[in-house]
Amino acid sequence: MPRITYHQPGGSSQTVELETPAPIMQTALRNGVPGIVGECGGQAMCATCHVYVRNEYLDQLPEKSEEEEEMLEEAAAELDEERSRLGCQITIGENLDEIAVDIPERQV
Ligand code: FES
Repeated sequence: MPRITYHQPGGSSQTVELETPAPIMQTALRNGVPGIVGECGGQAMCATCHVYVRNEYLDQLPEKSEEEEEMLEEAAAELDEERSRLGCQITIGENLDEIAVDIPERQV
């Protein structure tokens, strides 16, 4: 079953299994994973779903759109050119079945 592991800044982590494909942001909200806000509802317009993708999954990610690149510049926490992504723009359970992300210290 597809799954997403969320690592918190304090060191704890939570793995969520997906019944159907879903983005990292929406899955966090539905399962009460703290640290992801998703203010704009997944429109790539707020950057409060910023996550750092763990290195072992980087080469499987879809390319960033121009909108995603621009929004990431607005993220509250430090930008990591390679690992920073918007959680609403990456769907798990389609081309990518598993991912692990680090949640930033802050989203606003
Ligand atoms: S939820 Fe707003 S950019 Fe992802």
